Amino acid sequence: MFAGVFNDLPPAPGAFSKSEVRARQARLTSGLSTDTLILLPAPHESTRSNDVHYRYRTSSDLVYLTDWHEPESMGYAFHDGSSWVWGLCVQPKDTLKEIWEGRRLGAEGVLALGMVDRTHSIHDRDDVVRDLLQNVSRVLLRQGIDTSLDELVRVAMTERSRPRQQLGTGPVALEDPSARIAELRLRKSAEEVAMMRHAAEISARAHVAAMKLPSQGLNERHLQAVVEGGFVYGGGDGWAYPSIVGSGVNATILHYTVNNQPCNLGDVVLIDAGTEYQGYASDITRSWPVGGRFSEAQRELYTIVLDAQKAAIDACRVGQPYNAPHETARRVLAEGLISIGVINQSVDEALDLETGELRWWYMHNTGHWLGLDVHDVGIYRPKGEPRLLEAGMVLTVEPGLYFGAWRPDVSCPPKYADIGIRIEDDVLVTEDGPVVLSDACPKELDEIEAIVGA
Ligand code: GLY
Ligand code: MN
Ligand code: MN
Repeated sequence: MFAGVFNDLPPAPGAFSKSEVRARQARLTSGLSTDTLILLPAPHESTRSNDVHYRYRTSSDLVYLTDWHEPESMGYAFHDGSSWVWGLCVQPKDTLKEIWEGRRLGAEGVLALGMVDRTHSIHDRDDVVRDLLQNVSRVLLRQGIDTSLDELVRVAMTERSRPRQQLGTGPVALEDPSARIAELRLRKSAEEVAMMRHAAEISARAHVAAMKLPSQGLNERHLQAVVEGGFVYGGGDGWAYPSIVGSGVNATILHYTVNNQPCNLGDVVLIDAGTEYQGYASDITRSWPVGGRFSEAQRELYTIVLDAQKAAIDACRVGQPYNAPHETARRVLAEGLISIGVINQSVDEALDLETGELRWWYMHNTGHWLGLDVHDVGIYRPKGEPRLLEAGMVLTVEPGLYFGAWRPDVSCPPKYADIGIRIEDDVLVTEDGPVVLSDACPKELDEIEAIVGA
């Protein structure tokens, strides 16, 4: 099932280089005064049931700045008078734990990776942090991730300790660094783009494997199994967000994740699924007919969505506002729905956010930043103005049309009843125009009909 689909998967990129990670660190500290302490907490493992945990995923900011993914960790940085020093607290070597749970690098092994300058056992974290707090006046910490770390900082800021009373030392200001780090994460380096391209290459093939399966009589979960199996087969880290596999009417539910209904001949199946690779997300949606042949109505809607998506991708250009793809897609969708008689308004009327009929059939945004998080960080409207696209930004482009005949709020044209279509790709903005990272996933009508299993 997978071998033929994955045999042209490009080689996986190597791990992030030390210079890459060190450059990220330097970009963050370059804007900071030297009396600052950065603390980067990792979330604790969380219990799923009894003694079983959810699969662990650490904080994206910690990954970004230290390339460290393991649980029970904390990153930090401070200035020692001559340069910034980066450190990590990690799980220590422990033979018994390693026999049961897997090998650990321990503090020495992590130090040898070269991404930070100092490492410690996580068991020493409180002492390490208390020491660091004595000599700084400002702490950068995102609160709410590790409440025990929040408490350490709160105590250091509020207690009237002897050093504070006598020397005036100790932190007096606390800042959430999320926005600063988000600004960095928004612009992807060449190494990050390579990771994201690879994530998209794996996901594209997993979608093709699902398309190829003759799906008539199968259940949505069978397609989910194939697409998610493809993520693992291709070397991904598993889904970046819960897979959406909706057949027929279920394709009209934007974030449908039940994935347990039959796929009937004549249905359009909508699969919105992407793997994570080395922490980086991909996010692809394809919509295709069970049995391999679009009906006339499905073909009409698919063509409108595809035209809108291509036009929106073309709007992902340096200097364009971030919402140019959205406005472009909306216009093409409105024109298309007018042309097939679904909307009886002018284009401008149809686009009106209060009274336009487009909002009945297209009710979400056309994309979002993509990176270490599927809905990645980065302010869309700094100071209230739309951000202009820059080279290195990655965003999704995902217009759709959803004709849920079940909806009590609108009267669905019977011809299009229960058809949901979304087409989503991952787009890198470059000086030379948009680059579709997920272009290994076919989306033309004839390509889809040739691939989909009958
Ligand atoms: N899969 C969620 C999204 O497309 O935003
Ligand atoms: Mn998306
Ligand atoms: Mn998606």
